[in-house]
Amino acid sequence: MSLLDELDFKGSIATTKLREQHKETVKIAESYLQNKNLNDLLNHVEDLFKIHFEIEEKIVYPVFEKYLKNYLPYMEPIKMVLAEHNAVRNLYRKIKEGIDVENNAKTLAELLLQHVYKEENGVFNQVDKFVPDAIKVKISGQIDEFLKNIK
Ligand SMILES: [Fe+2]
Ligand SMILES: [Fe+2]
Repeated sequence: MSLLDELDFKGSIATTKLREQHKETVKIAESYLQNKNLNDLLNHVEDLFKIHFEIEEKIVYPVFEKYLKNYLPYMEPIKMVLAEHNAVRNLYRKIKEGIDVENNAKTLAELLLQHVYKEENGVFNQVDKFVPDAIKVKISGQIDEFLKNIK
C-alpha cells in the first residue's frame, strides 16, 4: 500500500503547498524502492534541497518556533524534523561520494517516507493548529514569493 493512500495531504494555507510537494516525494521514494532508479531519486533530492527544505527551514519552521514555544517548553518537534533534513543531506553526500550506494540510497528513500509521514501527521498539523490565521496568510505569501523568484 502506498503512503499516498494513507495520508490526505490536506491542511491550512500555510502548509498546503508543502503538502502538495510531499506527494511527489512519496511517489519518487516509493518508486525508487521498487525499481531502483537512482537518478530520479537524486534529482528529486537536489530539488528538495533547493526548494522544499529551504521553504521549511527559512520560512515555515522559524515562524512556527515562536508559536510552539507558547505550548511546549521544548523545541523537540522542530529539532526532530531538522535532524532528518540533515540526515537526508548526509546520505545524499555519501551516495555522491560512492559510499555504499545501494544501502544508503535505500535508507534515503525510506527516510524520506518517514519524514513526510512525520510532517504530515505531526509537525504540519501543529503548525496548522498553533500559528494564528493572519500569520498563516503571511507564510503562504512568503512561499509564493520564494517560488516566484526561484523560476
Ligand atoms: Fe521537511
Ligand atoms: Fe516537508
